[in-house]
Amino acid sequence: MKIAVPAEIDLGEPRVAATPDTVKRLLALGAPGAFQVAVETGAGVNSGILDADYAAAGATIAPSAFDALSGADVVLKVRRPTEAELSSYKPGALVLAIMDPYGHDAALAAMAQAGIASFAMELMPRITRAQVMDVLSSQANLAGYRAVIDASAEFNRAFPQMMTAAGTVPAARVFIMGAGVAGLQAIATARRLGAIVTATDVRPAAKEQVASLGAKFIAVEDEEFKQAETATGYAKPMSAEYQAKQAALVADHIKKQDIVITTALIPGRPAPKLVSAEMVASMKPGSVLVDLAVERGGNVEGAVPAQVTFVNGVKIIGFVNMPGRLAASASPLYAKNLFNFFETMVSKETKTLAVKWDDELVKATLLTRDGAVVHPNFAPKSEGAAQ
Ligand code: NAI
Repeated sequence: MKIAVPAEIDLGEPRVAATPDTVKRLLALGAPGAFQVAVETGAGVNSGILDADYAAAGATIAPSAFDALSGADVVLKVRRPTEAELSSYKPGALVLAIMDPYGHDAALAAMAQAGIASFAMELMPRITRAQVMDVLSSQANLAGYRAVIDASAEFNRAFPQMMTAAGTVPAARVFIMGAGVAGLQAIATARRLGAIVTATDVRPAAKEQVASLGAKFIAVEDEEFKQAETATGYAKPMSAEYQAKQAALVADHIKKQDIVITTALIPGRPAPKLVSAEMVASMKPGSVLVDLAVERGGNVEGAVPAQVTFVNGVKIIGFVNMPGRLAASASPLYAKNLFNFFETMVSKETKTLAVKWDDELVKATLLTRDGAVVHPNFAPKSEGAAQ
């Protein structure tokens, strides 16, 4: 059984889907000598992993993507394979990656047509058993940390209060919008740097978590807020009335802030707009905003993907792929998430591939199989239902 780890072809993607540690673990899933892991040469270099490290762990180093993928039964990737990449994939291969499926129907159709069984790691249910496979958490945590580091690097003042003989430097005021995994790590990081931190979210459960990290919670806590969490723990889209009340509260708060980090997302929908151009204009020159939702439409008006924009002396950071900015930390966690999921697809008794197609983790993440898009959220509507 051959497992392929190709290099990512997207130049903005420095992460890799396996590490020497996971290579060893993958090989150990099969009977001695039964599994082969082929890593494309250079695949790990941007995460600080050399071919020799993979080889020492037992991998074969393939001179090209084609060689790595040729005949592979399983492909481990960071990003969804492009149509060009798919031409080297074997029909029936299991492909695990961050598939970014929403709004990319043509790409899903291409995967279906290639005959692969594609699994979207970001659709993993947030249940206890699957925590070790949760790529959203493992990567968002690092993104939240990095957002604060990037903000501090662009900010022209210090974060902590410093009392010196020459005078006092005031502590920076940091406001985190969206207190999920990324936001909570951003709060913790900004606190460690000595900032005065406030945070907001629409989920009531976030209030206590924010407080436990030593930050002040700021939100419109009306009846709608009390119902704003779905059964799966995600935020619901809020009504126009709530958003207006939230905007008024935020507008008043934001003008006193030095740093604003936004992380607000709603699965499968464009990111909610939380910071208007007027709010940005109300901030002091030298202030910095970091929009972690910029790839999903953005929380901040004026944020541009992959750019730092200047608006009246205020910087808006729109860096994309924040976890990739910490690739050597992000790749081992991502690779471990993939391994933990793949492990459930190998029989412990026979030590061979045995996907349990009825398993809830498989059903929740499987996008395409046997030539069709099979996931209920993405399967094309039937002709009659299309009207
Ligand atoms: P996310 O990345 O989907 O969204 C980030 C944050 O933005 C969320 O906290 C969300 O409530 C917030 N948000 C959405 N709309 C907003 C608005 N209009 N204003 C302010 N904030 C807004 O969320 P993430 O980080 O993936 O976490 C979602 C929840 O799932 C959290 O409660 C987290 O603790 C929970 N979780 C549970 C896990 C498990 O049980 N295995 C694992 C990871 C997270």
